[in-house]
Amino acid sequence: MRTFVPPGPGAEVSPDWGVRRAVRLAFPHPSALVGDPVHTGRLRVYLTDLLRPYGLGLDPGALEQGGQSYGEMAEALIRLAVPAGESVDLLVLAYAVPDITPGRATTTYLSHVCPGGPMTFAVSDQGSAGAFTALRLVREYARAGELRRALLLVVEQDSLPYHPGVPVQLPSGSSGVALLFGERLPGERPARIGRVATRQLPTEEGLAAELDALHAADGGSGGGAAPTAALLGAALAARVTAPAGTVRRGAADAGRPGTGVWWELAGELADGPAGAGPAPGRLLLADYDVGLRHLSLAAIELGDGAGDGAAATPVCVEDYRRLARLRIDAPVWDFIEGGAETERTVSANRRAFDRVTLRPRVLVDVSSCDTGTELLGARLATPVGVAPTAYHRLVHPDGEIGTARGAGAAGALYVVSLFASHTVEDIAAEADGPLWMQLYWLRRREVLAGLVERAAAAGCRAVLLTVDVPRLGRRRRDARNGFAIGPGVRAANLDPALTASAHRADAGRSALAVHTAEAVDPSVTWSDLAWLRKQSDLPLVLKGILTGQDAALAVEHGAEAIVVSNHGGRQLDGATATLDALAEVVDAVAGACPVLLDGGVRGGTDAFAALALGARAVLLGRPVLWGLAVGGAAGVADVLNLATDELAHTMALAGRPDLASVDRSAVVHRAAT
Ligand SMILES: Cc1cc2nc3c(=O)[nH]c(=O)nc-3n(C[C@H](O)[C@H](O)[C@H](O)COP(=O)(O)O)c2cc1C
Repeated sequence: MRTFVPPGPGAEVSPDWGVRRAVRLAFPHPSALVGDPVHTGRLRVYLTDLLRPYGLGLDPGALEQGGQSYGEMAEALIRLAVPAGESVDLLVLAYAVPDITPGRATTTYLSHVCPGGPMTFAVSDQGSAGAFTALRLVREYARAGELRRALLLVVEQDSLPYHPGVPVQLPSGSSGVALLFGERLPGERPARIGRVATRQLPTEEGLAAELDALHAADGGSGGGAAPTAALLGAALAARVTAPAGTVRRGAADAGRPGTGVWWELAGELADGPAGAGPAPGRLLLADYDVGLRHLSLAAIELGDGAGDGAAATPVCVEDYRRLARLRIDAPVWDFIEGGAETERTVSANRRAFDRVTLRPRVLVDVSSCDTGTELLGARLATPVGVAPTAYHRLVHPDGEIGTARGAGAAGALYVVSLFASHTVEDIAAEADGPLWMQLYWLRRREVLAGLVERAAAAGCRAVLLTVDVPRLGRRRRDARNGFAIGPGVRAANLDPALTASAHRADAGRSALAVHTAEAVDPSVTWSDLAWLRKQSDLPLVLKGILTGQDAALAVEHGAEAIVVSNHGGRQLDGATATLDALAEVVDAVAGACPVLLDGGVRGGTDAFAALALGARAVLLGRPVLWGLAVGGAAGVADVLNLATDELAHTMALAGRPDLASVDRSAVVHRAAT
């Protein structure tokens, strides 16, 4: 479970964040549980105990009436409102009629039955204000920027189990409304939360003025869209007319004092006028509790869905990030996106590319620009390849098989991770392009030797040893999430007994850190490399070099290629950005072997900068996982092709028609200050 801290004033909700799905359900028949005498007996004891401290007694006939429990209603709504394969981070259950609080038992239960195991609250407030307060809560969490999906449930029951001291208007049936919030997917209409307010009014004269003020206010749309509908609760509609200028007015059913306006809103969002989908503009929601003189107001801004085409078709690598985020569960997303400690090296990798300016040459024949290159004897259509990343089946059922097909389709190099969730043999069977096998130095040398042998037999072209993980970086997001690899995915190339700890979730720590400490040998040194080189004829590549000294040692100890990498900022926090380290490494190697770079490469201009500073190729880590999550093999191919097309485009505009002409004279790279 994740927690979010709502931000202070000022943060804005993304314009794409709002209601994505609206569902309403009436429960005309008594709950199935009511017919169960054991359940009713227990409920009688529970409610009697609950009411006693308030000086209330259980109405003897209450439990015979039927009705529905909040938990049952909520569960039915969840099933309808949350699409298959999606999950929810925050669930708020609002109940509007004064009744027995759905206590901890209900919210705990709901947090288990709702996909995603969301943080769950039950909210009530003055009379009908509960649902508005819940909406404010959802909005505040959304403003914190980390809330992917939230579910608001508004429920009411047709009976009170006790004799209330104050006369309250009871609903004529049990009903519930569910609103699913999140960043809209391509093709979905935006329905954004505008202003929400709840307040006590000394007199009823103030009602119309408050409504007019909401009508006149911007409501947060930024564009001042004209209100098209006002939905008023029954008690309010009996006292005021809807603000002048509203195109349509609606009043809620008097038999639904709690869910009334929410019931209308759900109908409006689901069907819209004449079933044509909601019209663009603003929906004003207002409800009034007569006994408590409490007014609640909210505005929902309905967009017209313009611009969906752009959202549906990613045109750059970063578009895949946005789309992938909607498809990947929060803890897995954190595992992928996160870095070590303060994550300053993650951002440093990106910022280093911002300090590059290009020096274009003109009047050069760029009618064809060739991105083809050669690496350790293999021809590649592109110098943009796939960095080793673990457990691809966490983001797509095809896992590394999809990645191999995508890389092959793009003519790109694919470095398979030691922690791949398919065997290297199965991956190689699907790969059109060259594969390298990545390894960590395992404590069990016989396992390492076996892997090298299998990689060679499967047709891998090189062994790549990652040298920046003597222990795992302190990845705070994973520790906070108690992250572990779920039971459906595993490191297919290793014996399950060797990886058991990677699956053991433990609050406050990352299972991967525990597993790495168990499995990886932190005592290896340069002199051990000779042993590894002896295990096969495959060339040895070292990944994780950031200094000229280590680059020279790598060459001295037989490395046939070097990857300048800080593991995407996931290991030593504060380490140099890779682009900043590149020239030093290239100079130290002095042409003895090819130098590759990864970390923060997000497009063709970045690739161009790295190649100009001396890299033979660049590798993409996270972007390949975004592509895989969004479109399987096709998504991986598209990410690689987008970066390659951008590279060819940059080469054309910079007057460098082939990679040999992409040299240091093509860029100015300002050092980090
Ligand atoms: C989710 C994830 C898993 C990774 N797993 C491995 C791995 O198994 N072996 C490895 O050498 N590097 C691993 N890396 C590091 C990448 O190979 C690469 O260095 C880094 O992702 C490049 O930075 P970028 O993500 O900004 O492109 C992983 C990175 C990520 C994001």
